[in-house]
Amino acid sequence: MSDETFYLTTPIYYVNATPHLGHAYTTILADTMARFQKLRLGPEQVYFLTGTDEHGDKIVQAAAQAGESPQAYADRISGIFQETWTRLGLAPNQFVRTTSEPHKRAVQRFLQQIYDAGDIYFGEYGGHYCFGCERFYTEKELEDGQCPDHRTAPAFIKEQNYFFRMGKYQDWLIDHIRRHPDFIRPERFRNEVLSFLKEPLEDLCISRPSARLTWGIPLPFDNRYVTYVWFDALINYISALGWPDGEAFRRFWPAAQHLIAKDILKPHAVYWPTMLKAAGLPPYRHLNVHGYWKIEEVKMSKSRGSVVRPLELADKYGIDAFRYFVLREMTFGLDADFSEDALVARLNADLANDLGNLYSRVLKLIQRYYDGRITQSSDNGHLADATRAAVAYVTAAMERFAFSEALAAIWNLVSATNKYLVTHEPWKQDPGDARTKAVLFTAAETLRAIAMLLSPFLPKTAERMLQGLGVAEPMTSICIEDVYPSPVQMGLREWRVQEVQPLFPRIQATAAKPSRAGKESAAVPEIPLEQITIEEFRRLDLRVAEVVEAAAIPGSKKLVKLRVRLKDEERIVVAGLKEHYPPESWAGKRIILVANLKPTSLMGITSQGMVLAAEDDAGRIVLLMPEAPITPGSKVR
Ligand code: ME8
Ligand code: MG
Repeated sequence: MSDETFYLTTPIYYVNATPHLGHAYTTILADTMARFQKLRLGPEQVYFLTGTDEHGDKIVQAAAQAGESPQAYADRISGIFQETWTRLGLAPNQFVRTTSEPHKRAVQRFLQQIYDAGDIYFGEYGGHYCFGCERFYTEKELEDGQCPDHRTAPAFIKEQNYFFRMGKYQDWLIDHIRRHPDFIRPERFRNEVLSFLKEPLEDLCISRPSARLTWGIPLPFDNRYVTYVWFDALINYISALGWPDGEAFRRFWPAAQHLIAKDILKPHAVYWPTMLKAAGLPPYRHLNVHGYWKIEEVKMSKSRGSVVRPLELADKYGIDAFRYFVLREMTFGLDADFSEDALVARLNADLANDLGNLYSRVLKLIQRYYDGRITQSSDNGHLADATRAAVAYVTAAMERFAFSEALAAIWNLVSATNKYLVTHEPWKQDPGDARTKAVLFTAAETLRAIAMLLSPFLPKTAERMLQGLGVAEPMTSICIEDVYPSPVQMGLREWRVQEVQPLFPRIQATAAKPSRAGKESAAVPEIPLEQITIEEFRRLDLRVAEVVEAAAIPGSKKLVKLRVRLKDEERIVVAGLKEHYPPESWAGKRIILVANLKPTSLMGITSQGMVLAAEDDAGRIVLLMPEAPITPGSKVR
């Protein structure tokens, strides 16, 4: 077991509103990363922290509106966050609350330490304060005089307060960021912070007079004041580990990484490292910053009342489908637009079709052909390279928090497996053939690898896949030997396929409602139902062609030989349509030709293409023809 550790935090969310998609997104990312690292390092080596931020003006206001005391209100909303994460299957190691006693003690200790070191002083300051952000803005940071995040005008506040000598650490911070190129990532946010740091860094106001705000943590050196939000909230990342003496702090702080959206970049990239420096603590390792979920181009936010509720989506489409969508759709660091249609499209294409059909198809064939049991064959390494590539790619992408790329790499392996099956067509082969068996064994083996790779992203689905394959051992590691061991290494010589249930029900696009997964919808789409991408479609070269002449082929009841003209090229094409279109009916017709079909020989004649026609259930066949006259050779798109 490695002694490397991994510590990942989400922001602690304000309890002035209930969780929406944005909060769920960050917490799902963290959960996925923690699961991935647990497979990589061992479960004991990983710590995943989330929680709620419960002090400050806006919590007092929200509580008053709800007719509750601040504490009762905070308890209730914090409870809703915790319950939401549980219902979404998210499993943090700890849920920290800023109103808890250990946290308050840690904050006071931290403040005292910095005060004693001379980095906190008493003074007066006036500036533009945004209550949404709970911080002062410089003139330059405001957009049209408004807070760029909340789109509200800040209040001008001038009063006597305590200040942290943040400016003193500006040069140190710039130097640290320069010397650690991935301290803040992706790079765009690092650049943003460095450019902000070109201006002189002001000191940070850290207190509020208790006369005006009581809902905070009293300053240990002056109880006429309480501490101001960020000096309370940021400290959760160490108070939760039992700083200063906690064993968890000793083990995990050196491996700390934070995960946030760009709204709180400055407090995390500027305030927090300088606070840590002043307290004599090493900075975190990485600050990982993601973009916003937007709805029709506008940031989703509770203050603007435009929110998507994660539980509703998870209830409607399933937890894993919801997870898959958010992990796959957003490129880490960029904004993404949320739409339920896009979610349904991904669910149908990637989950129900690519993955779900692959799984059902392979398992059903193994059941049908071999009664569910298939033994190892000597010839099973055909997808080994593709699997190794996927493991390497997923590992590298996760190092950069590139969740979407990691999933794309897994889907490449799904596609490779689908292609492998389409090439070998085991459904058309003799089950007794050693080759057929080898193909299905290889596919089952690769499905197991896919399930292992998927488990941090779609835990429930991975579990179901492994159950279906009859794999009893739990997933414990994600190194290549474990994801893709040789059957000998694994000591496994046989797959025992269990009853096959579809992994994902298809959603009717029109109804946008899931068909109920259960007994009545257990029918698996017939083999091989495949969707293709637009790129795959584009590989077809379809052309309009004019029939110059047609002739019967002696000895053939169905075939007719056509001479057709494309732009300035003639070809011979054999079509099996004689019974529907006799030779004399063809001349002058403009038909649609698959022009890049590999030539085949029919009754001794080389056919250079295929004529398109439609057939109904009764077997009636009609030619497809352009709706209006168009030049032969024109491309069909
Ligand atoms: O800022 N898209 O809490 P908060 C993506 N308490 N992520 C979003 C999002 C969106 N539209 N909206 C919110 C606070 N988030 C402080 C943090 S930390 C010491 C204190 C997510 O409730 C994202 O993670 O406003 C963002 O950083 C966080 O919620 C802000 O949550
Ligand atoms: Mg916010």
